Amino acid sequence: MGWLRLQAVAAVLALVAGAGCCRGFEFHEATVDAIHLGFSNGSLTSAALVQFYLDQISRLNPLLRAVIEVNPDALRQAARADAERRSGHGHWTTGALHGVPVLLKDNIATRDALNTTAGSLALLGSVVRRDAGVVARLRRAGAVVLGKASLSEWANFRVVDNGWSARGGQVRNPYVLSADPCGSSAGSGVAAAADMAAVTLGTETDGSILCPSSWNSVVGIKPTLGLTSRAGVVPITPRQDTVGPMCRTVSDAVHVLDAIVGYDALDAAATRAASRYIPHGGYAQFLKKDGLKGKRIGVPNGFFAGYGETQLRVYKQHLTTLRKHGAVVMKNLDVATNLTALLVDLGSDEWFAMQAEFKLSINAYLKDDLLHSPVRSLADIIAFNNAHPVEERMKDFGQANLIAAENTNGIGSVEKAAIRRLKELSANGLEKLMKEKRLDAIVVPNNDASGLLAVGGHPGIVVPAGYDEQGMPFGLCFGGMQGYEPRLIEMAYAFEQATRARRPPMFKP
Ligand SMILES: *[C@@H]1O[C@H](CO)[C@@H](O)[C@H](O)[C@H]1NC(C)=O
Ligand SMILES: *[C@@H]1O[C@H](CO)[C@@H](O)[C@H](O)[C@H]1NC(C)=O
Ligand SMILES: *[C@@H]1O[C@H](CO)[C@@H](O)[C@H](O)[C@H]1NC(C)=O
Repeated sequence: MGWLRLQAVAAVLALVAGAGCCRGFEFHEATVDAIHLGFSNGSLTSAALVQFYLDQISRLNPLLRAVIEVNPDALRQAARADAERRSGHGHWTTGALHGVPVLLKDNIATRDALNTTAGSLALLGSVVRRDAGVVARLRRAGAVVLGKASLSEWANFRVVDNGWSARGGQVRNPYVLSADPCGSSAGSGVAAAADMAAVTLGTETDGSILCPSSWNSVVGIKPTLGLTSRAGVVPITPRQDTVGPMCRTVSDAVHVLDAIVGYDALDAAATRAASRYIPHGGYAQFLKKDGLKGKRIGVPNGFFAGYGETQLRVYKQHLTTLRKHGAVVMKNLDVATNLTALLVDLGSDEWFAMQAEFKLSINAYLKDDLLHSPVRSLADIIAFNNAHPVEERMKDFGQANLIAAENTNGIGSVEKAAIRRLKELSANGLEKLMKEKRLDAIVVPNNDASGLLAVGGHPGIVVPAGYDEQGMPFGLCFGGMQGYEPRLIEMAYAFEQATRARRPPMFKP
């Protein structure tokens, strides 16, 4: 993997860049705001910061396997950011992510030394045509691309153990090593939790940011559909795919969100539609300590059952905290007359539509987004897996979903009917409830509302909420309607500041 050579280059560059640097700066769990203070008062350089995360990765990755690849160019990018800041050239050096190392989920394309493989050996050796839309924005903001985070292979469409991929191996949860880290953005969540990157990006189709954020005690933002470009992201379905931040604090996540939102000609329809939601002056203005004041928050029935005593007690305290900070908390609301039936119907229609959409979009990605590739179609991937049964653990996981997708034949009348039903279920469920009760948000545990949010393209923010008897983290999710990011950020930030529930990982067995 060139790991040793990389470490040698890193050590030399760090000696050059880091000489005499960084007395007094607290690297451990540094926030984006602290990093900027460090840059401006001379106690920190971007090169020293990158070196800190490279050291964290070489120390922790053999255990956690959160990172698939580190960027051999990261220290050079950091040195360039340091030089830009020293010379004071360019207004961009004041941007929140300038010189800040970002780790990207391995389904987000980078046109550089890093591979983009969605964790699969089938895509190793493919060359992407260009950076993903969000990566282009990060580079313009002066961020440093630190590397690629591991994930559940094929972003979970090939249903494998959470956090396992042929390239990355099994990602582990840094709180409870034997516990499921959740997927598919497992590596991004774990790397953020264990301080292996300043900030990370994940992607979500249904739960893939919200779940690993909850279970690894980090903040995850699943944005409104189209707020962030999906161009250059290995797809599942354009109807639900989103890219969003996974970070240790709400403030860090919001700085990342500010850097990656906006129109992209290569994902034109969705990003144009959502760009009307982007507030003038960005999202950081909504980091308000009193952000809960006057907010109407619904607690839907049926979601808080089925959790252990500790979690239910903590969640109950949190609802009291929301009230104490000025929110109107409305309990016992029904999302639908029969929630179980709604979720079952959503799930089956969603899955049905997704199979046909996945085939169309993955074939388009393999054909159009790659300059070279050993595989150019879903059929090629299926053949690749059959030819590499040991490496791809075919006995354990198979590829039934890939085959079911391959057997679809475009969006016909049956698929159209399923998509129409999804719209109706969303309109008659979450959207109706939120309108009728004039809600600013619903709150639910973890990713339990991810399906409701996914099918309507609605946003959600999950914030660390506590730990169970075994030390396993759980989160509280604020979900809203399309474009509700400003008020969700207000509530999430005020909740985080009021509870300060997150603790660094404990590495229990
Ligand atoms: C500079 O800011 C950092 C950032 O938080 C702080 O830890 C450090 O003590 C400050 N150093 C000086 C010399 O002011
Ligand atoms: C990308 O994959 C190739 C193998 O195809 C490997 O040699 C190379 O080291 C990988 N790049 C990085 C940055 O790890
Ligand atoms: C709700 O729907 C589920 C699944 O269809 C069904 O098993 C259950 O009996 C229904 N509950 C009520 C109260 O109608």
